[in-house]
Amino acid sequence: MDTTCINRITITRPDDWHLHLRDGAAMKDVVAHSAERFGRALVMPNLKPPVVSVGQAWSYRERILAALPDDPRFDPYMALYLTDTTPVDEIRRAAMGPHILSFKLYPAGATTNSDAGVTNINKMHDRFEAMERWEVPLCVHGEVTDPSVDIFDRELVFIERVLVPLRKEHPALKIVLEHVTTKDGVNFVIDEERHRHPTAATITAHNLLLNRNAIFQGGVRPHHYCLPVLKREAHRQALLWAATHGGPRFFLGTDSAPHAKSAKEAACGCAGCFTAHAGIELYAEAFAQVNALDKLEAFASFHGADFYGLSRNTGTMTLVRKPWLVPPSHEYGESEVVVPLRAGEYISWSLESRMHP
Ligand code: DOR
Ligand code: ZN
Repeated sequence: MDTTCINRITITRPDDWHLHLRDGAAMKDVVAHSAERFGRALVMPNLKPPVVSVGQAWSYRERILAALPDDPRFDPYMALYLTDTTPVDEIRRAAMGPHILSFKLYPAGATTNSDAGVTNINKMHDRFEAMERWEVPLCVHGEVTDPSVDIFDRELVFIERVLVPLRKEHPALKIVLEHVTTKDGVNFVIDEERHRHPTAATITAHNLLLNRNAIFQGGVRPHHYCLPVLKREAHRQALLWAATHGGPRFFLGTDSAPHAKSAKEAACGCAGCFTAHAGIELYAEAFAQVNALDKLEAFASFHGADFYGLSRNTGTMTLVRKPWLVPPSHEYGESEVVVPLRAGEYISWSLESRMHP
């Protein structure tokens, strides 16, 4: 289908299955961007301290709801932070608890606020078995932390060293390879589907739009630094194929990860791209670039809900091909700002609800 002449597209309200909202005053500033665009989001638990129990997740969820603007259509779902000491019983509680969707596996030291993460995966089998038994999905930050492994190979090595053996031990465990960045990750998910294993992957908009050159475009670009780090063009092409033609195991997860401008533009800057300000528009742009706008709805609004066993959203949203200028920054808590992706540049798709006659 030729979608190059489509200038307006209406889709079922999409969901964001991987989102960082932070906490406190900063959360209030960022959550509105997601609530304007998405029906639901899976909220990541890497706060300081991390969200390790069902009780903590529920109170975090209450804080999110309290921070929402008046329009309360946004329904946050929570991921719990898996640690070396997560009790097996917490997994049962998570399975029973409404709005608790999954556990998030951070290999200790892999990324922002992952110090409390898992140090030895081989000591976690009783917890993985409980997740299998109670049908609680495991969302995975798929990178090894071994400093001798090249940073661009950490996803591939994680697949070989961790995911392949994990899948052998736990054939029924639902696994989501979060923010997949490589063709190796895409191939792993496709192979898993062939073997009828319940494995899926989220794909970010920035990984669909940028390759690793963007980190060094005319100088060091801290706002393009995230983890897993952006990869070379061949991987971006594989991700574009997966998002548009890879089938139901690939779905939208922005991994919008705000950090204060001062923490990004620093000698040792934090990892994370803030994309919630254009959470769906950036995907529309990526899909339009490869003439696949007709595939956007399934990726953004159906596949994730289906994988998680949730009903699809009922409302709709309309996007129009109309460029808008991204502001240089957005407010972020009491005295900070956050720099959004594409700051000071144009994005070619807009929300129709934002258009003024
Ligand atoms: O770039 C990233 N930022 N990757 C992650 O895994 C975590 C995230 C964050 O929380 O800032
Ligand atoms: Zn993340």
